[in-house]
Formats: sequence, structure tokens, C-alpha cells
Amino acid sequence: MKYSKKVLEHFTHPRNQGRIRNADGVATVGNPVCGDIMKIYIKIGENKKGEKILEDIKFETLGCGAAVATSSMVTDLAKGETIEKALKISRQDVSKELQGLPPTKEHCSNLAAIALHDAVKNYKDKLKKKK
Ligand code: FES
Repeated sequence: MKYSKKVLEHFTHPRNQGRIRNADGVATVGNPVCGDIMKIYIKIGENKKGEKILEDIKFETLGCGAAVATSSMVTDLAKGETIEKALKISRQDVSKELQGLPPTKEHCSNLAAIALHDAVKNYKDKLKKKK
């Protein structure tokens, strides 16, 4: 199995690793087949246009190298983006930005995109409950 340079770079130097205290949205997803677990935290802010953005995002991942690299990439792609844009980041976007993943590791990018979307949904659900 051969990883791209980009995957190795994100695996060895993950961006946005850690947790956010008092996060506005949190999601944990796991893959029952491989047992890998990914947790995403988001902090919501506003840009100059008054749109809600992912001001900060962090991840904690217990899993394979590709799971760490895809978590790192998804946080890089989503940071500073509006919540609408974050919801549009797909598994394919993550894989493409990582210059592709070996076929047996494609599911790892799925986990990252789902965790991001679920964290945004968690934020939206909390908002609804407050109202
Ligand atoms: Fe399952 Fe990587 S092997 S997330």
C-alpha cells in the first residue's frame, strides 16, 4: 500500500489536533469494521458579512494513518468556512486534497467527512433546543 506525499505529511504533522473546551458542536464517529474512532469539535463565530463560520475546529482520532491524515485535512478544509460550505465538504474533496488514498483506505475519508457534518448538525440541534 502506497500513500501519497500529502497523506504522509498530514499523518506526521497533523493540523488542528486536540480538543476544544466548550465546543459549540461535537461529533464522534466510528467504523465498526476497523474499529477506528474520530471526534471533531467545532467553535462557531461570525465573519464580516455576519455569516456563521467554523472559527475553530479540532480533532481527536484513534485510528490508522489515513484516518489521522483525513481528519487533519478535513479540519484544514473546513476552518474559517461558513457552516453551509462545511456541510458540502465531501469524502471525495478530502481524498482529492490528499492526492488520493489507496482503495482499501478510501473509507477513512468517509469517516472524516461524516464527523465534520455531524459536528455541524450537533451545533444546529443545540441551537434549535435553545430556541
Ligand atoms: Fe478504518 Fe482507517 S482503517 S478509518
